[in-house]
Amino acid sequence: MSAPGLTIWLTGLSGAGKSTIATHVAGHLVQKGHRVEVLDGDVVRQNLSAGLGYSKADRDTNIRRIGFVADLLTRHGVVVLVAAISPYREVRDEVRHKIERFVEVYVSCPVDVLAERDPKGLYRRALAGELDHFTGVSDPYEVPDAPEVVVDSSVESVDESVARVLQAVERLLTAGRGNGRAPGLTQSRPAAPGPSSSAI
Ligand code: ADX
Repeated sequence: MSAPGLTIWLTGLSGAGKSTIATHVAGHLVQKGHRVEVLDGDVVRQNLSAGLGYSKADRDTNIRRIGFVADLLTRHGVVVLVAAISPYREVRDEVRHKIERFVEVYVSCPVDVLAERDPKGLYRRALAGELDHFTGVSDPYEVPDAPEVVVDSSVESVDESVARVLQAVERLLTAGRGNGRAPGLTQSRPAAPGPSSSAI
């Protein structure tokens, strides 16, 4: 029997660690024999979403495109990791409801910590008023209402975050076998007991 597909959607500010966590989770899942694909916002914006900017309309288009591809792959048994800021709740929820198995991971990190890290120098420019529509500084980020997993990269290691995401994924993949009732799976199963879903 082939394993069921799943989309693991990591949302959070630029530099919070979405891509890093996605890549590590992907590596673990490949080792376990899953077929895995990573859809990274920075990469998608160089091809599928080339030409889109950072207005709300363009970001929503970007997220719908990523969601469309993630849905196709999920239907074909792939575990898809999406790493995109996806700052708007409504379009995130729209995508969630289209995809049969869906885990939302909120990668949280305070802006002042991100501004310290700032490998691309974008926070410095945004805080200096040189960059309009920069998420978390001059553009909104809507924190998820009920993500299955919350990780905070300012207080936990990559390995800890990865382990928590993998726990949630394992539970859903196991629960998903032979059960097509996705909305129940996606909405009612917190990923991990304890602080993960109550941290915000
Ligand atoms: S999303 O909002 O549409 O989900 P996405 O994840 O694809 O964003 O792209 C975000 C990346 O674009 C950031 O990691 C950053 O490198 C770059 N970027 C450039 N300008 C901005 C901006 N104004 N706001 C956020 N990210 C930006």
